[in-house]
Amino acid sequence: MTTESTSRTRDARAEDVDDLIALWGLLFDGAAHEAAPWRGHARDWLGSVVVNRQVACFPVVEVDAAIVACAVGTLELGVPNPHCPRGRTARLANVVTLPEHRKQGHATALVEHVVDWARSIQADRVDLSATPEGRRIYARSGFELTSAPRMKLML
Ligand SMILES: CC(C)(COP(=O)(O)OP(=O)(O)OC[C@H]1O[C@@H](n2cnc3c(N)ncnc32)[C@H](O)[C@@H]1OP(=O)(O)O)[C@@H](O)C(=O)NCCC(=O)NCCS
Repeated sequence: MTTESTSRTRDARAEDVDDLIALWGLLFDGAAHEAAPWRGHARDWLGSVVVNRQVACFPVVEVDAAIVACAVGTLELGVPNPHCPRGRTARLANVVTLPEHRKQGHATALVEHVVDWARSIQADRVDLSATPEGRRIYARSGFELTSAPRMKLML
């Protein structure tokens, strides 16, 4: 007899931190080694924001009670402008699904969850940086390429 897997989307809790950091590590290949300082900072940061849905949203997909995919939404406050009238931008990041659970719609469901959250906190828009793998998912959810290239300065 085969038993059906059950999956559900829920908000992450502080005690999910190890599962989330393991998933986030998949995004960075060699730079994500176990001792890297970002892991400790990520742990502290998650603990400080996970309970405040006004500033962040951490949906996860569970299959048979194990976390297999996650996404993160964070609110950034900036100067109101014609493209962002209230200056409230939600950033969608860290969308990742365990390799053996891909192509089952989990990332798509998580993207929609973060977009719904962004609407619920009166964000004007949702921004993201897409990997080539993620681009089609975002395009199907209505995201468009922007003309402004991202720039950075490492400190
Ligand atoms: C990109 C990534 C998050 C996608 O996760 P996922 O859970 O497989 O995403 P989905 O299942 O929602 O969609 C993936 C594909 O499966 C398809 N799919 C969804 N449900 C399906 C189903 N039941 N049967 C068959 N295919 C299905 C989707 O149409 C989509 O097709 P496409 O690649 O042609 O666009 C995942 O590959 C990943 O973690 N990659 C490494 C990290 C990364 O690049 N993250 C993105 C950061 S921007």
